[in-house]
Amino acid sequence: MKASAPGKIILFGEHAVVYGRPALAAPVTQVHADVEVTDSRDDQTWIHAPDISLLSTLDSLPPDHPVASVIHNFFSRFGISPFPPLEIKITSTIPVASGLGSGAAVTVALVRALSSFLGHPLPDEQVNTFTYEIEKLHHGTPSGIDNTVVTYARPVYFVKGQPMETFRVGAPFTLVIADTGISAPTKESVGDVRRLWEADKPKWEKVFDEIGEIVRNAKEKIENGEWKSLGALMDANHALLQTLAVSSPELDRLTEAARTSGAGGAKLSGGGRGGNMIALAEKEKAAHVAEALLSAGAKRTIVTTIE
Ligand code: MEV
Repeated sequence: MKASAPGKIILFGEHAVVYGRPALAAPVTQVHADVEVTDSRDDQTWIHAPDISLLSTLDSLPPDHPVASVIHNFFSRFGISPFPPLEIKITSTIPVASGLGSGAAVTVALVRALSSFLGHPLPDEQVNTFTYEIEKLHHGTPSGIDNTVVTYARPVYFVKGQPMETFRVGAPFTLVIADTGISAPTKESVGDVRRLWEADKPKWEKVFDEIGEIVRNAKEKIENGEWKSLGALMDANHALLQTLAVSSPELDRLTEAARTSGAGGAKLSGGGRGGNMIALAEKEKAAHVAEALLSAGAKRTIVTTIE
């Protein structure tokens, strides 16, 4: 039994989304996590994740290991006992801790493959709820945006605690995604923003409001097919993320390089500090912008179309 889940990119609104403001995100299908579940060769459950050089029985992994904890939680949540001996192969092309939702994608693919193998494929809503529970174990106070986009694999206008809402893309537009190569756990930047907020709530609530306003504006532009206006909104969102201290010299260098090479605008995407940034580029200019980003130190780029 095989299952797959895509990566994701936050277009607008990261961090403020944790505080109830809206955010926009979209799936990135060029990268994905894949899980295959088969009967075990013996009476043990085996986990094989070649990308992270993991070949182990479930029993010999610590219970809080990121993969083992998903499996244990899945079995206990759905009352499966004793565990059937399985062979679980996990592969992923989504870079870890880079803001592309690799953790959520592995969980979604795992839960889908396990539930289907056991004869009860879970509906998306339950996959999403379960993955959010796992995200909370790993990330502290996540908004739930990552699991939602990755589960439904559609563009999402997300407000924490509200039912999933998609948005219409009036005219497709191209983004260049560039990886700083610096792994930056979301948990840390989210925790640092929380400390800032706790020290001066009125100040940071105002910043979150400004980000929320950009998100609503961006949604309208996207729906109307006015994607060229998104560049300025990206720049403004990036500047607000800088004030939240979640950018980094590398992210600032890449956003600047994108702008000078002809991108309409650029911003960090996801938790920040490292991970990925996105640049808005006309389709014909995307390859040139990607080249410029690589010259400015990006470890790799993905050109994707939001549609
Ligand atoms: C991470 O992809 C996005 C953040 O806003 C955290 C979250 O929403 O849980 C930084």
